[in-house]
Amino acid sequence: MATSDAKTSYVCQHCANESPTWAGRCPQCGEWNSYLERRSINRSRRNGAHGLGVPHPEPLADIDFSDASRVVLPFREVNRVLGGGIVPGSLTLIGGDPGIGKSTLLLQVAQAAADSGGGVLYVSGEESPQQIKLRAQRIGVSGEGLLLLSETNLEGVMEHLAERRPALAVVDSIQTMYLDAVSSAPGSVAQVRECTLRLTQWAKGSGAAVFIAGHVTKDGAIAGPKVLEHMVDVVLYLEGEGFSPYRVLRSVKNRFGSTNEVGIFEMRDGGLAEVENPSAAFLAHRGDAAHGSAIVPTLEGTRPLLVEVQALVTPTAQAAPRRVANGVDMNRLLMITAVLTKHLGVRLSGQDVLVNVVGGLRIAEPAADLGIALATVSSLSDVPVKPGCVAIGEVGLSGELRPVSQVERRLTEAAALGFTACILPQGSLSSITGREGVELLGAATLRDAIGMGLEAPRAAAPSGPR
Ligand code: TYD
Ligand code: MG
Repeated sequence: MATSDAKTSYVCQHCANESPTWAGRCPQCGEWNSYLERRSINRSRRNGAHGLGVPHPEPLADIDFSDASRVVLPFREVNRVLGGGIVPGSLTLIGGDPGIGKSTLLLQVAQAAADSGGGVLYVSGEESPQQIKLRAQRIGVSGEGLLLLSETNLEGVMEHLAERRPALAVVDSIQTMYLDAVSSAPGSVAQVRECTLRLTQWAKGSGAAVFIAGHVTKDGAIAGPKVLEHMVDVVLYLEGEGFSPYRVLRSVKNRFGSTNEVGIFEMRDGGLAEVENPSAAFLAHRGDAAHGSAIVPTLEGTRPLLVEVQALVTPTAQAAPRRVANGVDMNRLLMITAVLTKHLGVRLSGQDVLVNVVGGLRIAEPAADLGIALATVSSLSDVPVKPGCVAIGEVGLSGELRPVSQVERRLTEAAALGFTACILPQGSLSSITGREGVELLGAATLRDAIGMGLEAPRAAAPSGPR
């Protein structure tokens, strides 16, 4: 029932669905009792969108923006994901699981920005200045040019921003901030949205950059970074598996650069360190001729990365065999095992299949299919993949090997790390001009590819206890 003066609406705290009326159950996500009242804050037209006067149309040609205005940090990996540096007036969201290293990264970025000139205000709603100092000492952040503020009331934060006019403001985390004008609790969808909106307006109006941290939440009343993605200029996610020191900073939205760029870091005692040569780092601890192991030249954004896919196939002790996928998509693994069974006659029905990507990386692209299949058959048959050989290819449901994109980049990386052969889809051969010192083994089907990739079984290798 919309009234002519509709100032209140109801927002689902679970999925952020908005409704003019209250409902006991959200029609979008099905959550019960999740609607909270939201009173929209009345913004006067007179104040303009950024609170700095009424905006006027400007000729596009007269608008001044060049890449030169970016603040380039002494952090190659961070610059890369940002598209070349921090854009003044932009708001960047860094999302990630709690404890993954967002605060550490933000403190390092804050110090780097302070070193490049321009004041930095680091607002923490989670830690006291003493705790931040402790972390700063641990990771060798001097604190020069860095102001700390421990505050959760965003009005208070805004006052300090207006007064100090820093070139960069860091807000850690957005879920701890609140505005009195919003009735719901800190961390609710309404609060994180309003707070982010206020920060965006300040950034656009003042020309300063803002970084906010947002915890990814699985459930509950705390709103995750997803509900903010449409409001901010850049969305980065810091990812990694808890047990692995590697962290991937991934750009999923960037109004000033390409998305799908990644930066690769290692969490050390002294904070996050950039990984100079990620492929070498991920392959560092690999043994020779390991059974159940295949090397895949994957692409993370535009960046080639060699990763090791491991598989372990063992007779199952349960009624239904298990499939475990670490770092690869479970549905892909199920599809690949089904194709192996159906088209190659590989008997996996009584076997547990465990697949793992070394280093805690996650491979999303189907180009890793062949690597997964090779590692699986290699483990089952106890035959190692040919030394010096990498494999790429998407597996189709009828057992064919489908072409993959950007083969040359992958080959260059494989060659740089000393690999001498690559099994790839026949259909990708035509797209390659140079060979980059890698022997190309084109295969039309998964069956051919596996035949090429595994050392001739048994007969050719009579020695050895296996
Ligand atoms: P933190 O930045 O507090 O994570 P977030 O802000 O995303 O919640 O990082 C916390 C983890 O990082 C913590 O478990 C310890 C680890 N860590 C290191 O290994 N080395 C370091 O130098 C620092 C500061 C943290
Ligand atoms: Mg933190």
